[in-house]
Amino acid sequence: MPLLSSKVILEKAQKEGYGVGAFNFNNLEFLQAIIEAAKELKAPVILQVSEGGIKYMGLSFLEGIAREVLPEVDVPLALHLDHGSSFDVIVSAIRVGFTSVMIDASKKPFDENVRITREVVKVAHAVGVSVEAELGKIMGTEEHISVAESEAVFTDPDEAVRFVELTEVDSLAVAIGTAHGIYKGEPKLDFDRLSDIRKKVEVPLVLHGASGLPLEDVRKAISLGICKINIDTDLRVAFREKLEEVLIAKRGEIDPRKFLGPAKEAVRSVVMEKIKAFGSERRAW
Ligand code: G3H
Ligand code: ZN
Repeated sequence: MPLLSSKVILEKAQKEGYGVGAFNFNNLEFLQAIIEAAKELKAPVILQVSEGGIKYMGLSFLEGIAREVLPEVDVPLALHLDHGSSFDVIVSAIRVGFTSVMIDASKKPFDENVRITREVVKVAHAVGVSVEAELGKIMGTEEHISVAESEAVFTDPDEAVRFVELTEVDSLAVAIGTAHGIYKGEPKLDFDRLSDIRKKVEVPLVLHGASGLPLEDVRKAISLGICKINIDTDLRVAFREKLEEVLIAKRGEIDPRKFLGPAKEAVRSVVMEKIKAFGSERRAW
């Protein structure tokens, strides 16, 4: 089926009360692992690529994936730019076939974030691409984005209402206590803030930094209005651990399929576990 925008995928999830996994990939193994898990569980998923991922894989490789590979897959998929930082990157992603983009101007002051996001929305909506933006500052490091604990700011519910009205974004990433990367302490989510935002804001809400969270916390967040759950670190950890295990067990093995294959399988099982926990199994249409 043709690639969909995240808006189409997330609005259905919002209506029916389940979460959709948004999984990052940087190479063939991760891409295949995510697609295979989605097909096996008949689940809609969002495949996402960061700016670093675009640099690593190249735009023409991603264009081939967007135009040739993904439309052959028979579950609902979107190809999403994760944490886009500039208008140029957004436009180049849209030009090669991304169906969804995130503009992350969350480090800028409110008015500047609104202005930049609005510009992106105008261009993206003109070609049917959906837009996610972020309000508040999510702790931790995700590729080129780094926010120290002291700089983290939770999303203000009233600002969120104004932000969505002024920008007309399709989904909103909220800062409610999650962090990018590996958690140092026990994560504590501000569920009251989340439900307050949900009561005031109609667009689907996005949870970044969802790796390492107890699955009950994610399920509770979904019940309070989160529709898109971003997972990167958990996949990286599973890949790395399995790869290391196999390389140690098979010293001298030089066929990459013999060690990348099991690592890919490890990623696939984590994706499947997340899809089941988010409630998106058998939600494909
Ligand atoms: O944008 C991507 C994510 O928010 C992933 O966060 O690496 O903590 O899973 P994570
Ligand atoms: Zn993120």
